[in-house]
Amino acid sequence: MMKNKNLIGGDKDLSAVLVIFGGTGDLTHRKLMPALYNMLLDGLVPENFQVVSIGRRDKTEEEYRNEIRISMEKYSRNKVDEKIWARLNDMIRYYRFDFRELDKYNELKEYLDGIDDNAGTLGNRIYYLAVAPEYFETIVVGLHRADMAKSKSSWRRLVIEKPFGKDLTTARELNQKLLEVFDEKDIYRIDHYLGKEMIQNIMVLRFSNSIFESIWNNKFIDNVQISLTEKLGVGTRGGYYEHSGAMRDMIQSHIMQILSLVAMEPPVNLKTDSIRSEKLKVIEAIEDINQEFLKNNVVFGQYGNGIIDDVPVVGYREEDNIPENSKTETFVALKLHINNFRWAGTPFYIRTGKRLGRYGAEIVIQFKDLPNILYFKDRNQEPNILVIRIQPNVGVFFQFNTKDFSTHHDIVTTKMDTSYVSPTQGNTPEAYERLIYDILRGDSTLFSRWDEVEAAWNVADKIIRYREQCKIELPNYAAGSMGPERAFELMAKDGRRWWNI
Ligand SMILES: NC(=O)c1ccc[n+]([C@@H]2O[C@H](COP(=O)([O-])OP(=O)(O)OC[C@H]3O[C@@H](n4cnc5c(N)ncnc54)[C@H](OP(=O)(O)O)[C@@H]3O)[C@@H](O)[C@H]2O)c1
Repeated sequence: MMKNKNLIGGDKDLSAVLVIFGGTGDLTHRKLMPALYNMLLDGLVPENFQVVSIGRRDKTEEEYRNEIRISMEKYSRNKVDEKIWARLNDMIRYYRFDFRELDKYNELKEYLDGIDDNAGTLGNRIYYLAVAPEYFETIVVGLHRADMAKSKSSWRRLVIEKPFGKDLTTARELNQKLLEVFDEKDIYRIDHYLGKEMIQNIMVLRFSNSIFESIWNNKFIDNVQISLTEKLGVGTRGGYYEHSGAMRDMIQSHIMQILSLVAMEPPVNLKTDSIRSEKLKVIEAIEDINQEFLKNNVVFGQYGNGIIDDVPVVGYREEDNIPENSKTETFVALKLHINNFRWAGTPFYIRTGKRLGRYGAEIVIQFKDLPNILYFKDRNQEPNILVIRIQPNVGVFFQFNTKDFSTHHDIVTTKMDTSYVSPTQGNTPEAYERLIYDILRGDSTLFSRWDEVEAAWNVADKIIRYREQCKIELPNYAAGSMGPERAFELMAKDGRRWWNI
């Protein structure tokens, strides 16, 4: 769908100014600008479209554009074509402004109105807050005071990066502040995982294939595993991560979203709210996770030093901006139950961590064994496994049993691997391309609605509170391993194992 040339090129209603607060930051350089470039290449940027990047640093428009050009060479998934770059170059403006100065928003308003007059952007705005979360509220208040948040004659949309709050209380407070200024339908809470092609494919796989949907339940599925594992450490983001940890960084957001897509009921139609309502029900159906349950069903870890890809790396506590007695978890393994008719009795195992021996995001569906008769009377049974691969390879893997043609009665496990795209084979759109395109079209299906965020915090908060109380010897896994021993025991005591396909 992203390949449709000139899909919206001439559509006047989509003319807009994208105002990026944090235009000199890492996210803008690495993700947002390359996404815009590739959207232009694919014909997905309307004719009258302008980008205003806001930062504090003193630089001319030309200097800013040159810096973006350098980032484009580094981060764009497509080679930079001079003609396309020239178009993006012409769209970009740099506006120097300290967004804490609330009395200066009137000047910004005038500046943006001037662009409307010259570039025909119709007063439509996307306010993209690519800034540290503590500034979300300040900027929204500034926009409100200068009467920039709503308009009778044009649309105004607010884009909020994660993290959305640091617990349920702060998330509620932030949400309240946003709703005082913007309507829920105009707030786009980014969870960039939802922009990934294979995440969107979960619904397509499930609801457009009778072979999957008819067995997608506790009668046929033994367990579901969701693993989001990284080889990277915290790098330069130690200051952020130390206050976030794996629970807030991965579980509350990405993993809850993936879980709800895997486990949801079919929506009554493909409208945004129908899908979001079904996703919400999954999170609400998660069995009450009290302290007693958590004692046996969650494992926290923190990496020590070790070796990744033959290179020695330091432990978490030796990273920049991390205190030497840090208790922050860089790994979580967790078992959850979704107590509804479809899933009661089928456990969901979740695993995420940094500095692990393997990089990847995948969902493993392990089907139940057949009775141990016939072929399996005196032979171990390899289960049927379906793997939805999100990254780095994108595709579907299926494992099933067939006859070994070289013998009379042996059975072999056959592996069917439909990698759509691998990093060496091709080029799928980046999540941010899809997300910016959807914001432009006013489609919020791939963004989190407030009640989904609230329900996810409700679950995550309980686990975070439990972690704060429990005494764990940290670090408890070596960089390059697949996490603490207890994460394997979590599976082994249920007679199961983590699949690394
Ligand atoms: N980077 C990522 O890969 C990533 C991934 C997911 C989510 N996020 C989220 O995206 C947001 C931005 O992250 P980032 O990594 O891009 O941060 P960053 O590199 O630290 O950039 C922060 C930006 O905010 C601007 N800024 C800060 N204070 C300002 C002020 N008072 N007035 C005007 N501008 C000000 C900075 O401008 P100056 O430098 O010019 O002062 C800079 O452009 C965060 O919420 C983060 O959690 C980032």
